[in-house]
Amino acid sequence: MHAEITGWGKCMPPSVLTNDQMATVIDTTDEWITSRTGIRERRVSHVPTSQLAAVAGLRALAAAGLDAEDLDMIILATCTPDTNIPSAAAAAQLAIGASNAGVFDLNAGCTGFIYGLSVATSMIKAGDHRRILVIGAERITWYLNWTHRETAVLFGDGAGAVILEATDEPVGLLASKLTCDATAAEALKIADFGSASNRFQTDYHNLTIQFDGREIFRRAVKGMQEASEYVLKKSGISKEEVNLVVPHQANVRIIDSLSKFLGVPSEKVVVNIGSYGNTSAATVPVALTEALEAGRVKPGSTLLLAAFGAGLTCGAGILRWGKRVTPIAQSDAQLPPCDATALEILGEAIQASMAK
Ligand code: UT7
Repeated sequence: MHAEITGWGKCMPPSVLTNDQMATVIDTTDEWITSRTGIRERRVSHVPTSQLAAVAGLRALAAAGLDAEDLDMIILATCTPDTNIPSAAAAAQLAIGASNAGVFDLNAGCTGFIYGLSVATSMIKAGDHRRILVIGAERITWYLNWTHRETAVLFGDGAGAVILEATDEPVGLLASKLTCDATAAEALKIADFGSASNRFQTDYHNLTIQFDGREIFRRAVKGMQEASEYVLKKSGISKEEVNLVVPHQANVRIIDSLSKFLGVPSEKVVVNIGSYGNTSAATVPVALTEALEAGRVKPGSTLLLAAFGAGLTCGAGILRWGKRVTPIAQSDAQLPPCDATALEILGEAIQASMAK
C-alpha cells in the first residue's frame, strides 16, 4: 500500500503588505528586505487560520474529485491555531463538511507540513485510513512584534493542502526524515502561549514571536542539508535524479545554499518567497500547488521537500508523483470578502506593539 497525492490547493488571503508599506510602520527599507531575504511582499489574513485551511482543503478536494464526506482524517499543521481548545482542525472540519473525518492539529513549526505528510503516509500504509487531507495553514502576522524588525518583515499568512489516497502504485512519499534539536528551542518561540506562562500577568509582547535569526539561519542550512542527504540515500535516489526541489520559504539565501549543496540549477527549485514571505507550515504545500499550476510537476516526477522551524525541527522527504498532474475539478470556495488594507487589519496589533 502506498499514499498518492491526488489533490492540491492553496488559499492566500487577498490583502497585500508590500515592503514599502511595511517601511511606513517599521524602521526598514525595501532594499534591505529584498536583498537580505528575497521577500517583496506578503499577505495578511482577515480571518483565523481554520478558514484559510478550509478553503485550501476544499480546493484540494475538488482537484482530487472527492466529496468532503470521503475524507477519513484531517491533519492541520499549524503553530497559529484559532484556539488551543478545540483544535483548528475541528473548526476546519466543520467548515469543509468532512463529518466522517477524525481531526488533529500538528505543531512542528514551519516543518509541520512535512511532518503531516509523513504521518498521513504512515496511516494510509498501515491500512486504517484511505483518504487524508493534510493542510499547512498559518495566520502568523497576528503574532508579530511590530517593534522587532528582524522578525516582522519575514512572515506572512496563507494555507496550502493536499489529499493523500491509498494506491497500489509505488508513488508518494518514498522516504522521509523528521528531526528536532530541542537544545536550540529557545532560538524561536512565542513564550507565553500556554501552561508555562503566568496567565494572570499576560504581557502582550510575550505573545509575539521572539527569535535569534542568525542562529536559526545557521542551523537551518545544516539541518536541511543533512535531512535531504538522508532521504536521498534512504530512497536510493541520486541528486541528479531529483526533478524539482520544493523547499521551505524562509529566506532566499537559505534556499540558495540548499540548492548549491544539492547541485541543482535554479530552474529545478521552486521559489515564491518574493510574493508571500515565510508562511510557516504553509510554505511547502503552497509552493507545491504553484509548481503544479505552472506545469513544473510532470507525471512520475521525483520531488525533494525540505523544511525547518520551531523546535528546532527539521524535515525532508522524497516524493514520487503519480500520473495525474491536472486537477479533476475546481472548487468555488472563497474566503469572506475583505475591504480592509493589510495595515488596517494589523492596526490594533501594531499599535499595541508600539505602546510597549
Ligand atoms: O522558518 C523559521 C523562521 N526563522 C527564520 O527564517 C530566520 C532565519 N534567519 C534569517 O533569515 C536572517 O538571519 C534574518 C533575515 C533574520 C537577518 O538577516 P542577517 O543577514 O542575518 O542580518 P543580521 O541579523 O546579521 O543583521 C544585519 C543588520 C543589523 O544592523 P547592524 O547591527 O549591522 O547595524 C540589523 O540591525 O541588519 C539590521 N536589520 C535590519 N535592517 C533593516 C535587521 N533587520 C532589519 C530590517 N531592516 N528588517
